[in-house]
Amino acid sequence: MDSRPIGIFDSGIGGLTVLREITASLPGERLVYLGDTARLPYGTKSPETIIRYSLQNARFLLGKGIKLLVVACNSASSVSIPRLREEMPVPVMGVIQPGAERAAGATRSGVVGVIGTRATIASGAYERAITGLRPGVRLISRACPLFVPLVEEGWVDNEICRLTVESYLGDLRAEGLDTLVLGCTHYPLLKQAIGEALGGRVALIDSAEAVAGQVAALLRREGLESGEGDAGDREYFVTDASERFREVGQRCLGQGIDRLELVDIMPGA
Ligand code: DGL
Repeated sequence: MDSRPIGIFDSGIGGLTVLREITASLPGERLVYLGDTARLPYGTKSPETIIRYSLQNARFLLGKGIKLLVVACNSASSVSIPRLREEMPVPVMGVIQPGAERAAGATRSGVVGVIGTRATIASGAYERAITGLRPGVRLISRACPLFVPLVEEGWVDNEICRLTVESYLGDLRAEGLDTLVLGCTHYPLLKQAIGEALGGRVALIDSAEAVAGQVAALLRREGLESGEGDAGDREYFVTDASERFREVGQRCLGQGIDRLELVDIMPGA
């Protein structure tokens, strides 16, 4: 039994979709979440910058006594996992591998789409992971940078949202893909619009869901599960604008955010 918390970080709010799934499958686990809202977005930044930010976030969470680090950001997962594993004295899990495993297992047509931020798509991380598991798969990758601001604005089911999704993905209907990886924390909130744009016959792989199952398996394997009476409390930290985080975060989480604190993770910088 190990009652230390699980640390989760994202560039901002989107990682709450991962926290929500972990809470649903592991209600007794304590969770500490850091949203690096001061430096969001990560998806437009270089790998070097994203790695530096990720290491700073990880060190902050380590200071909270975590037993496992979950990188709940696709852009950060796609470039920083090897460095984080080198540096962290606790297990580190990203969202790419769990999503890739689901996609590789789900496709029947052998044509898989991957959508994400510019950083995630440029890294080729999903492509490497999926073809490592299913060598013959044909991959179609596409950066959809406007999806993140749409979700942040709460525009997930209006005309502008539908037009934007159609502009990015409409031509994929002719490609024969049967599986699409939602390779960004924000995209699960656009599931309906994306599903409709693709004609409803494509399996949408939510990396948030995939990672939650793997967190449970890892805790079991490593003997890190919390005790039976543990309450599963949650603490949230942000590096900027906590009220905005509370408001948009509630949409991602489907419930209120109580223990929220604004922090400076690099005092004096
Ligand atoms: N959390 C990021 C991701 O999953 C999206 C937002 C950003 O660009 O920082 O890639």
